[in-house]
Amino acid sequence: MKIAVLPGDGIGTEIVAEAVKVLKALDLKFEMESALVGGAAYEAHGHPLPESTLNLAKAADAVLFGAVGDWKYDKLDRPLRPEQAILGLRKNLGLFANFRPAICYEQLVGASSLKPELIAGLDILIIRELTGDIYFGQPRGRRTAVDGHFPGAEEAFDTMRYSRPEIERIAHVAFQAARKRNKKVTSVDKANVLETFQFWKDVVTDVHKEYPDVELQHMYVDNAAMQLVKAPKAFDVVVTGNMFGDILSDEASMLTGSIGMLPSASLNSSNQGLYEPSHGSAPDIAGKGIANPLATILSAAMMLRFSLNQEAAAQRIEAAVQKVLAQGLRTPDIYSEGTTKVGTAQMGDAVVKALAAQ
Ligand code: NAD
Ligand code: IPM
Ligand code: MN
Repeated sequence: MKIAVLPGDGIGTEIVAEAVKVLKALDLKFEMESALVGGAAYEAHGHPLPESTLNLAKAADAVLFGAVGDWKYDKLDRPLRPEQAILGLRKNLGLFANFRPAICYEQLVGASSLKPELIAGLDILIIRELTGDIYFGQPRGRRTAVDGHFPGAEEAFDTMRYSRPEIERIAHVAFQAARKRNKKVTSVDKANVLETFQFWKDVVTDVHKEYPDVELQHMYVDNAAMQLVKAPKAFDVVVTGNMFGDILSDEASMLTGSIGMLPSASLNSSNQGLYEPSHGSAPDIAGKGIANPLATILSAAMMLRFSLNQEAAAQRIEAAVQKVLAQGLRTPDIYSEGTTKVGTAQMGDAVVKALAAQ
């Protein structure tokens, strides 16, 4: 089992170190190889996704990824910015299906900014299409406007687009995932305004004909953003495009207590996957040893489940995480009165200890 380990920037290195610690504590034989990515790779090699890093990721059974980015790179030409590394990995590996499960662990009900009764027992799955939409659509760029409100003015543009096969395959992923859960899919769109998302809605409706046992609901993205905080437990599987999925998954992370709790898996059609927390490099807390490593540790569990065929090991990690939460250990982002504040490494050590005690 070959794992490419790409820590990246900011808290990426801190949280990935803890996930690696946890993986090493399992009685499994992994071959782990690390490489630079993002701003760190730009500094060393002049490119955020060097050929050698991409090749390592391609050759691996799975990629464990931290986060990339820092404000200091915001003025670089776009192809050199750290974020291009994660976008390039997703595109090059064909990782079109992004799973972001928002689960509120019993012990963290008080850590969320929402009322406990709204989130107790929450278990929803956001499935985000990850290689299409306005993120990758061409053309894009800057030019002089020939029409619009200000002809002759400088303007910028991007292209939102989806093809039928791109929507079909993510819709199949969502319906199949729902079959293993509560058999309800909410497809989130903006069909009332955008042609791309009327098409999305039409194609999802077509694919649904193959899944009569699964309930399909359509919802506009603005309403979905509101319903997610009004009655989050009414959702089961949410399927949506790349940009709406980006935004809604950050929103959903707060239902779990913190963005530091939301793992993710990005899969291609051969179940090769990249596993990363849903959050970024958090430059505001980088280097302080206080980042929550649990989203990354839980992403490692997803890696064992989806790409490495090690369900039992995945469950062991998840049980160990629940145990440390039950022990009252909390990084600052999930701290509440009466619990014990710990740092990143202490949290990772506690998970390792809980594994050993199983
Ligand atoms: P962010 O997710 O990095 O941080 C948002 C807020 O959440 C910050 O206050 C941060 O301190 C907090 N936070 C995030 N992860 C945390 C954790 N594990 N524990 C405790 N607190 C945590 O988003 P941002 O600040 O908008 O972006 C920072 C940089 O990260 C940017 O360069 C952005 O492009 C990049 N980014 C990268 C990825 C990725 O690599 N996949 C994802 C999102 C953002
Ligand atoms: C995420 C991030 C990325 C995205 C950025 C860093 C390119 O926000 O993984 O959610 O927008 O997909
Ligand atoms: Mn995001």
